[in-house]
Amino acid sequence: MIPHSRPTLADDDARAVARIVSGGQLAQGPETAAFERELAVRLGTAAAAAVSSGTVALELALRAVGVGAGDDVIVPTWTCDALHHAVVRAGAAPVLADADPRTHALALADVRARLTPRTRAIVVVHAFGRAVDVRPFAALGPAVVEDCAQALGAAVEGRAAGATGAAAVCSFYATKVITTGEGGAVAGPAPLVAGVRDAREYDERPDLTPRGNAKLTDLQAALGRSQLARLDTFLARRRAVAARYRAALADAPCVLPEDAGAAHVYHRFVVEVDRPVDAVIAALAARGVTARRPVFRPLHHATGAAGFPAADRLWARALSLPCYPTLGDADVDTVAGALREALRR
Ligand SMILES: Cc1ncc(COP(=O)(O)O)c(C=O)c1O
Repeated sequence: MIPHSRPTLADDDARAVARIVSGGQLAQGPETAAFERELAVRLGTAAAAAVSSGTVALELALRAVGVGAGDDVIVPTWTCDALHHAVVRAGAAPVLADADPRTHALALADVRARLTPRTRAIVVVHAFGRAVDVRPFAALGPAVVEDCAQALGAAVEGRAAGATGAAAVCSFYATKVITTGEGGAVAGPAPLVAGVRDAREYDERPDLTPRGNAKLTDLQAALGRSQLARLDTFLARRRAVAARYRAALADAPCVLPEDAGAAHVYHRFVVEVDRPVDAVIAALAARGVTARRPVFRPLHHATGAAGFPAADRLWARALSLPCYPTLGDADVDTVAGALREALRR
């Protein structure tokens, strides 16, 4: 079977981690600090704080921009559950908004329609690696947190995804653009990041106000630095895979993602098909290809809310094809051929 996603690992990664094991400083220390500096440069932010996951990064970023009890936070319904959990853990209420069918990110008009005086923040997800212009969201007033979990390295008009919002969030889960196994980061202005650095620690504090432990280890940071050093190579191969899909599927009966140039890093290659997605997934599996829906389900399907027609349409049509740097040209051709065959029948 051709897997749907896969980390990109090399001997360099193993050597980087082995160096930390040999050195004996395993927990958060100088390697994490170096990873944070390199990450901030890449995101175009003043600073970054590494944490234990993208979900924790979201929660700490929301708290850092002032979200708390009694606040609303607008999040996309067309995304993963981490967004909902992070808002609730920050003490606030998630307000779902519909998707822009072109970019799969938040629909600006729907966000505007759902603003109230309680709206404290908006989480703009650069969905599936496709970065969007954050400025129109920032102009609405509430703080914008950019979710770059799937879009590290993407740029809009020469500006890195993550550089515009009040804070940016990364995930380094195993199948993300770069990985530390599990891990995440909050990036932004230095004072905000200093607050996150404080919030990830529980030890040696004068009082017992509830705290947690959200730190990344130097073991993980070594892997992260090694991966980050190869990010441009990863992105070049992701874009080459996408270009090959585009050529192979140009006249297939499916809608291809808009060619967004530097704004897309193709964490996912998401197409729209005009027949039941589960049947297409099964037909691809019969041909040795693992495809998936790009989200587990829209959040409003779990909350029972209605009024999200674009996300419902994407749910009915969107299919994520294998797309990662170690996918060879022959594999891309196999996937494209299997999809053409599945859509022909
Ligand atoms: C858009 C988005 N945000 C946040 C997360 C959460 O990241 P993590 O799995 O590192 O907690 C994910 C993970 O899939 C994601 O896709």
